[in-house]
Amino acid sequence: MTTSAAFLILTMNTGNQASKTVRSIIGSTADLIKDIRGRANGRTFTANVGIGHRVWSALTGRPEPKELTTFREIKGAKHTAVSTPGDLLYHIRAASTDLIIEFEKILLEALGDAVTAVDDVAGFRYFDGRDLLEFVDGTANPDGLALPAATLVGEEDPEYVGGSYVVVQKYLHDLAAWREQSTETQEAIIGRTKFDNVELPDAREGQKSHKTLCTITDEEGEHDILRDNMPFAVPGRQEYGTYFIGYSRHLWVIEKMLERMFIGDPPPLHDRILDFSTPVAGATFFVPPRQFLNNLAD
Ligand code: HEM
Repeated sequence: MTTSAAFLILTMNTGNQASKTVRSIIGSTADLIKDIRGRANGRTFTANVGIGHRVWSALTGRPEPKELTTFREIKGAKHTAVSTPGDLLYHIRAASTDLIIEFEKILLEALGDAVTAVDDVAGFRYFDGRDLLEFVDGTANPDGLALPAATLVGEEDPEYVGGSYVVVQKYLHDLAAWREQSTETQEAIIGRTKFDNVELPDAREGQKSHKTLCTITDEEGEHDILRDNMPFAVPGRQEYGTYFIGYSRHLWVIEKMLERMFIGDPPPLHDRILDFSTPVAGATFFVPPRQFLNNLAD
């Protein structure tokens, strides 16, 4: 996890010229990353490019990855996971913001009027990796050999081995209402202690914690995803949020987590994190392996 990140969402404009421009620019992503790294004095810089269902065929000329669809709205009794426009995602991560801004500036100048920027959210690291609800976020992420197994497509979709499904959601928090809850209530909602981040036991029945609702198990065992959520804020507008981003080998795993959060398990016992966090955007992408992107430039 880096100290800075940007989540840039673009839609592609209509016309052959637009898709030609976009194809050539996303095909040269590796060169642009190299260019920024070359000027970064060893500071971390990296970017992933996701492509959405609506433009996949026009842009790549290849069949779609097996599970790719647009983000499906999920309507619970009280809360809705909204689906919003987005054809391209740039998930940019760096040791400092100047590298991210430089990358976005060069990128958007090159893309010109072939795209429209829908949103551009700057994420920052908050103390010891906390979200703005003040809990440490990202602890249960897979690592070591479990990481590629959870996040990268395998032989189940031979053309896209090494790619990854990505879901993003932009949440705004009601911090005043959250602060009115006791620490014990907040901990029960998340499923971990606040100060030292220790896991609490799963509830056997009734209301489940966020951690428990997002644990997906079947006969194959537990299905993990990789999250790189970032807090974002504009204090002058009283805007405080969490930008959720999840990478997964199987899109259905993230969709299942969302169903359990919004509809509840059992319904209508939704994730109580949603009583203090409202999603205002949601979109799904597939991040192809770098070589696939390079080939688009040809
Ligand atoms: C766990 C925060 C949305 C999936 C956690 C934890 C926190 C957290 C603090 C516990 C520490 C950790 O393991 O990282 C948030 C916030 C969200 C949000 C503030 C937005 C307002 C989501 C969404 C998903 C998700 C939308 C999936 C669709 C998970 C998973 C875990 C987790 C898989 C780990 C569960 C386990 O222990 O195995 N989240 N989360 N989260 N969250 Fe979220």
